[in-house]
Amino acid sequence: MSVVIGVDVGGTKVVAAEVSPDGEVLGVARRLTPGRRVEVELVEDALTQAVEEVAAGRRVAGVGLAAAGFVDAAGERVMFAPHLPWHGQSVRARLAERWQVPVFLDNDANCAARAETAYGAAVGARDALVVTLGTGIGGAVVLGRQLHRGRNGMAGEFGHMQVVPDGRDCECGGRGCWEQYSSGNALVRLARAALDAPGAGGVLLDLAEGDPSLVDGPMVTQAASEGDQVALQAFASVGTWLGTGLANLVAAFDPEVVVVGGGVSAAGDLLLEPARHELARSLVGAADRVVPPVIRAAHGPEAGAVGAASMVRDGLGRGARPR
Ligand code: BGC
Ligand code: NA
Ligand code: ZN
Repeated sequence: MSVVIGVDVGGTKVVAAEVSPDGEVLGVARRLTPGRRVEVELVEDALTQAVEEVAAGRRVAGVGLAAAGFVDAAGERVMFAPHLPWHGQSVRARLAERWQVPVFLDNDANCAARAETAYGAAVGARDALVVTLGTGIGGAVVLGRQLHRGRNGMAGEFGHMQVVPDGRDCECGGRGCWEQYSSGNALVRLARAALDAPGAGGVLLDLAEGDPSLVDGPMVTQAASEGDQVALQAFASVGTWLGTGLANLVAAFDPEVVVVGGGVSAAGDLLLEPARHELARSLVGAADRVVPPVIRAAHGPEAGAVGAASMVRDGLGRGARPR
């Protein structure tokens, strides 16, 4: 029995998943992403370990990489990645050579869109937007049932749309990017800052053992679900900023549905309710149009890995022979 593996290569963690032909996750292995200013080999070592753990000695039919970065139109290189060290390397060929299996590569949000349109929350939609909230914000544009890629293969980089002129510095080198206000990083930054204030306390600080610098995304989600005020405030801010950006994207694309994935989407309505509210409030012509539903990715935070695996099956089925 050979396995098909999809790997989500994010700015915070690497998740390798064995995925069935109908998109079911059969097993996962996780590693922390070593960093964005390290040798590329360190990240590739983490991928290798996660893939080997999932494969567990079985033959691997192919590996799909859902990378948090700007992948070229050919699916060969990661040209630029704000949260990863790759900068122009032929990631696909390097790893196909190292692993001696067929490897396929695409942007992580594009992979999530593939999973959600094939067997997820956007099945049947002609025009859809997929937005993933993890370390940053990823985006994918589906128009006429096709993923829109653009000249360089780099369409859908919603996270780096400037929403605050001269705003917060972004890892991309720009300022005021949307992902600085609505992402896993933004959520954690807001929560830590609130807990740094004198007299702060509550469930979230307890989860972090009293040290705000230990707060991570899953802790904020858990604390918010238990009614912690700091955590709820952080979600209100990130969710409202999500709605602001979505209002601009919906104005531009008028999609049937907006699907939200990425690690932060595990929080469900804690994130999506403020986003829906803000979208309805600030979308141009809202009273005279159908405002699209904003729904959670059916494959949740695993949508990227699931879509990466489906890219492998499609690629192998088409008879592609990657080196
Ligand atoms: C990157 C995107 C990626 C997104 C989510 C952004 O900072 O520019 O390529 O899809 O983060 O991981
Ligand atoms: Na994308
Ligand atoms: Zn940016």
